[in-house]
Amino acid sequence: MIDNYHGIPSMMHLEEREWFLRCCGLAPLGAAVDLGAYRGATAAMMCDVRGSDNVWVIDNWKMNQDGGSSAEIVAKNLEALSHFPTILTQRSDATPPKGIRVGFLSIDSQHVGHVVVREMETWRPTLVPGAMVLLHDCDPHKYASLTRMVDQIFGKPEWTLTGQVLSLRAYRLKGDA
Ligand SMILES: C[S@@+](CC[C@H](N)C(=O)[O-])C[C@H]1O[C@@H](n2cnc3c(N)ncnc32)[C@H](O)[C@@H]1O
Repeated sequence: MIDNYHGIPSMMHLEEREWFLRCCGLAPLGAAVDLGAYRGATAAMMCDVRGSDNVWVIDNWKMNQDGGSSAEIVAKNLEALSHFPTILTQRSDATPPKGIRVGFLSIDSQHVGHVVVREMETWRPTLVPGAMVLLHDCDPHKYASLTRMVDQIFGKPEWTLTGQVLSLRAYRLKGDA
């Protein structure tokens, strides 16, 4: 664990968290979706910036790090900050909630190439024009297959890389919100 965000253990460095918060505020209106929540630090940032009404927190809670996490732990961590988003126990590539329109998508789940492909196949149709997608751990030395696939998927002309801070990349989908 690197640090914490309002007491919630965080896997991101301070500079990455600052960039995450900025992008979260710049993203167009719509739902904010957190794929890979762990203890809820990224979810808390999304709720802080966008309000928790339209934040969706998704994890299968299979990772077992520092004693692991669960939907209950995340709900408790977020409640302590007066945030009450929707928390779903499901795979990151499972069918999205019906009719959801997403302005901000954070991907920080399994960190392998074939999974990010499926995640984007699943979530791309839900994105509004101008939506922002943030991907953590884009590090070719640590997560080679993830980084290779991210380069491939987001190298298409519909995407613009708006910036990278350490291993956190932000892409914007073409179109006006
Ligand atoms: C690196 S942690 C997320 C950290 C969190 N974004 C933060 O910065 O506070 C990765 C999380 O992704 C979840 N995860 C891994 N693979 C997944 C999958 N295929 N579907 C859903 N969740 C997954 C794990 O259970 C774990 O909680």
